[in-house]
Amino acid sequence: MVGLRLAASGVEHHGGAWSGGRPPGPRRERWRVPGFSAVDDSDQPGALLRYLDDAAAAESGMKQYAVAAHALRRPAGPILDVGCGAGHDLVLLADAGLAAVGVDPSAVMVTAARDRTAAAVPVVRAAGEALPFADGAFAGCRIERVLLHVADPRVVLAESVRCVAAGGLVTVLEPDFGSFRVRSTTLPERADWISAARNPGVGARLWELLEQAGCDVLDRVEELSVWRSLARLENVAGFPMSVERAVAAGRLDATDATRWVDEQRARNAAGEFYALLPKIQVVAQKR
Ligand SMILES: C[S@@+](CC[C@H](N)C(=O)[O-])C[C@H]1O[C@@H](n2cnc3c(N)ncnc32)[C@H](O)[C@@H]1O
Repeated sequence: MVGLRLAASGVEHHGGAWSGGRPPGPRRERWRVPGFSAVDDSDQPGALLRYLDDAAAAESGMKQYAVAAHALRRPAGPILDVGCGAGHDLVLLADAGLAAVGVDPSAVMVTAARDRTAAAVPVVRAAGEALPFADGAFAGCRIERVLLHVADPRVVLAESVRCVAAGGLVTVLEPDFGSFRVRSTTLPERADWISAARNPGVGARLWELLEQAGCDVLDRVEELSVWRSLARLENVAGFPMSVERAVAAGRLDATDATRWVDEQRARNAAGEFYALLPKIQVVAQKR
């Protein structure tokens, strides 16, 4: 157990966003909360659903960008949303007049997506590593905040691209926690140690990964989220649990961590807290 003076906030990292009360059980068990890598194993799936609602409101610009990119091409067939979660993007696609199909491995998410779309959009329960669709069955594909949670992003991308017809559009949006920054005089501002997601820096690798999956990149769009309160850090990056976890994993010195946490709490109280998270969207075309 790490001897930090960190009051439990009851949140988990993005890459397992956790926001709904401290996980039950001994403290050492807290870091095993599976989050978005295995939603159905979470004992608080409602918190994960609420997180997606918050994110849908906060990130609507990038979501709309992906919908617009697909709509502009006037696709002749449906768009596949891999890791569709609670169906926020299926609604946006349908509102833009596009046929869509959602796929997600979580029963909780599939139910939420079907409810949100009033069953007007097909939602299939399956993992991105093994999609139950024929080669080239879709006119396009979108993926958002999924690859940071999967075992191997290359496998999910290859399988998703397989399901898209030649010339179809593939849009992928992922954060880059490798470039996450928190204003500080205690530690270097780069705080890439904070995320415990499986692939925290995958956003920065999207271009290369999409090319490897058989696509040509058409556009790369970057949005820098600016968080002005510790509450955002709690909700998205699991403060302060993520700090304890970084110390336990040897990524951060315990004394430095305690000073950093004290500094960030003081900054927050003074209205001087700043954190910056790049989110990268790549628009590509299947060769
Ligand atoms: C952070 S949520 C994002 C949901 C949605 N794309 C959005 O932007 O609102 C991550 C989603 O990825 C799903 N997921 C996790 N592992 C997956 C996998 N191997 N293949 C496809 N989806 C997966 C989760 O069940 C969850 O619904």
